Amino acid sequence: MGKPQGVVILDFGSQYAQLIARRVRDCGVYSTILPCSAEAEAIRALEPKGIILSGGPTETPEEGAPLCGEWVFEMGIPVLGIGYGMQDLARGLHGVQFHPEVPHTQEGAALLDHFLKSTCGLAGDWNMAAFMENAVRQIAEQVGDGERVLLGLSGGVDSAVVAALVYRAIGDRLTCVFVDHGFMRKGEGDQVVEVFTKTFPVKLVHVDASERFFADLRGIVDPEAKRKIIGRDFVEVFKEEARKLGKLDHFAQGTIYPDVIESGMVKGSALVKSHHNVGGLPAELGFTSLVEPLSMLFKDEVRKLGLALGLPDSLVTRQPFPGPGLAIRCLGELTRDKVAIVRETDAILREEIASAGLERQISQYFTVLTGARSVGVTEDERTYAYAVAIRAVLTDDFMTADVAQLPYELLGRLAARMAGEVPGVNRVLYDVTAKPPASIEWE
Ligand code: XMP
Repeated sequence: MGKPQGVVILDFGSQYAQLIARRVRDCGVYSTILPCSAEAEAIRALEPKGIILSGGPTETPEEGAPLCGEWVFEMGIPVLGIGYGMQDLARGLHGVQFHPEVPHTQEGAALLDHFLKSTCGLAGDWNMAAFMENAVRQIAEQVGDGERVLLGLSGGVDSAVVAALVYRAIGDRLTCVFVDHGFMRKGEGDQVVEVFTKTFPVKLVHVDASERFFADLRGIVDPEAKRKIIGRDFVEVFKEEARKLGKLDHFAQGTIYPDVIESGMVKGSALVKSHHNVGGLPAELGFTSLVEPLSMLFKDEVRKLGLALGLPDSLVTRQPFPGPGLAIRCLGELTRDKVAIVRETDAILREEIASAGLERQISQYFTVLTGARSVGVTEDERTYAYAVAIRAVLTDDFMTADVAQLPYELLGRLAARMAGEVPGVNRVLYDVTAKPPASIEWE
């Protein structure tokens, strides 16, 4: 495959550049993000058909906003300045003060599409299959001949897509380690092992480390402390497994773009939650590099990539599942009994959503053990048991989310089943809060 034709996005220091890249991909166009300080040669080498100047956190040069080189405007290709990027324009080039890449900007997508296709003359025929070929080539180059990669499979879509991608690039030089921390959904561990021994015959090491996780989390109630301990234990377990496996050169993981932003790794974004799958693993484990082929993609794009890779539909369309698993859906101290309540209510929710035919219509749905207990009555006996909350959201990119309006009769059936079938539950609530102000997970 030849070099894809596309545009260069010059990043003026905000998170907008990635969002612009995503919208450009939506238009079927390849893009490369470079810092606004990039040299002319670096841009020319990419032979772009156009340049987009992203907005930045500061809006004027007086506030310290950076400027790009004059030569950008002398390359003879169309330039689109967005937000602050417009301020950096003169000479009758294209500029918009608003942000066409932001989802709620009316006609934003149409404006970008027009710029890319009519102004820059791009065909818009770039797609996930092309992304895949590109990523496979980059992984093969990064890994190098004869070198081996270790990947942590979580059971979720992201790590599965990375596994399939890396497998395609380097075959059996990939070893996957699946650490069961004890916070997986019902039946999930078995499914992971099944797919990655049958469909993708990778070398798979399955570790049951639940004893250790529960022991280390005893008495811990703070959400960030929980996440940190789970993250730390993961690193420890990986270190032990890596040692047993002999020399492994690189570490692959399914970090996607929203993880990077929410871990505060992107300049200008505040720490929201520490994601246990992002951070200093390679340094801790002595790997030479970190393979993160999804770090520029949003969730819906990861699913498209999974399909392009030939992963089973049931796995690719599976709703996302956080690295720390059910642990962050069980408020307060973690015990096996409490996690079992989340696991059983989650299984009921998944079963009912599937039989209502709503699986594909809701982006993410799960239950949360709120930690609150209340008085109830069962067969004339007073109970004092847990309240479980149902969370169901609609979202494209998981950065913002609306509440899914589950039918009332479904909610009634869910409440009856959860309180009736799961010991320790006597009340069921429905979380009707959007993101923001809430986050999708409760911890
Ligand atoms: P929040 O709760 O931040 O969730 O609104 C946004 C999306 O991210 C998922 N999530 C995680 N995924 N590791 C992950 O891989 C994590 O530590 C983690 N925490 C949240 C969450 O399920 C939702 O899809």
